[in-house]
Amino acid sequence: MENHLLVYQDKYQINNIYCEDCVKFMDNLSDDFVDLTVTSPPYDDLRNYNGYEFDCNSIAKQLYRITKKGGIVVWVVGDRINKGNKTLTSFKQAIAFQEIGFNVHDTMIYKKKNTPFMRSNAYTNCFEFMFVFSKGTPKTFNPIKEKTVRSGMEMLVHNKKADGINKKILGKLNEEKTKTNIWEYAVGLGGTTNDKIAFNHPAVFPEKLAQDHILSWSNEGDLVFDPMCGSGTTCKMAYLNNREFLGCDISQEYINIAQERLNMYMNNKQLSILQ
Ligand SMILES: C[S@@+](CC[C@H](N)C(=O)[O-])C[C@H]1O[C@@H](n2cnc3c(N)ncnc32)[C@H](O)[C@@H]1O
Repeated sequence: MENHLLVYQDKYQINNIYCEDCVKFMDNLSDDFVDLTVTSPPYDDLRNYNGYEFDCNSIAKQLYRITKKGGIVVWVVGDRINKGNKTLTSFKQAIAFQEIGFNVHDTMIYKKKNTPFMRSNAYTNCFEFMFVFSKGTPKTFNPIKEKTVRSGMEMLVHNKKADGINKKILGKLNEEKTKTNIWEYAVGLGGTTNDKIAFNHPAVFPEKLAQDHILSWSNEGDLVFDPMCGSGTTCKMAYLNNREFLGCDISQEYINIAQERLNMYMNNKQLSILQ
């Protein structure tokens, strides 16, 4: 909690969102300032976000500068198909982040349970990438656990030697294990979020996705940032999970949506979080 009351000469306050180009916005933030960024860029102009510009290289450089040592940037991104050819913008962006100094700590998958985009001559695409970039070795990892299919006492195969003879010993299988790096979420109302207002934005990511990253890569009191906050999903989930937040978006229309959405929760923290 050391840094966060005042961000820059009274201009920005923690636990607020701002309408600004994120490169300019970050220019006003100190070095080594943010613990975790969870964001999704306007990939491939897939949607016309009111026609705004997007400069991945400058964003990556600023994010590297403002991220604390050991901090993380989660970058959620998919690819467009251009005349039958996948653009691979996702990987080009990941390489840009790596070249300016981030480690590509993990390449995770966001799998969508319901998949609207069918293709007649290819398998239905049901995922986006969640690149996890770290500034050096991650300083926080709180692994999310899931139940194992089987647990308890069981005869386990042990010490298989070159003679091919298996010995069996009585051992205990774990009740839970760390989740895999493929995370699956329902999308749409009731999946992505219950907040109807959020759907006035064209590309909301699931609030559970934001929450799972926030819990994994930050601790209570840490500062969570979203430079392209859209409908405010990351900010909302940071707030509900007792983190500080800061967000910006270039569109006043989207900032208005995010602000209205955040107001519902900042006035009533008891409102439910999707399970
Ligand atoms: C994929 S959306 C983010 C959606 C968000 N994760 C959510 O759950 O609502 C990308 C956002 O980036 C914003 N954006 C595009 N270029 C920007 C820039 N240069 N600076 C700040 N925001 C920008 C768009 O206005 C859009 O809201």
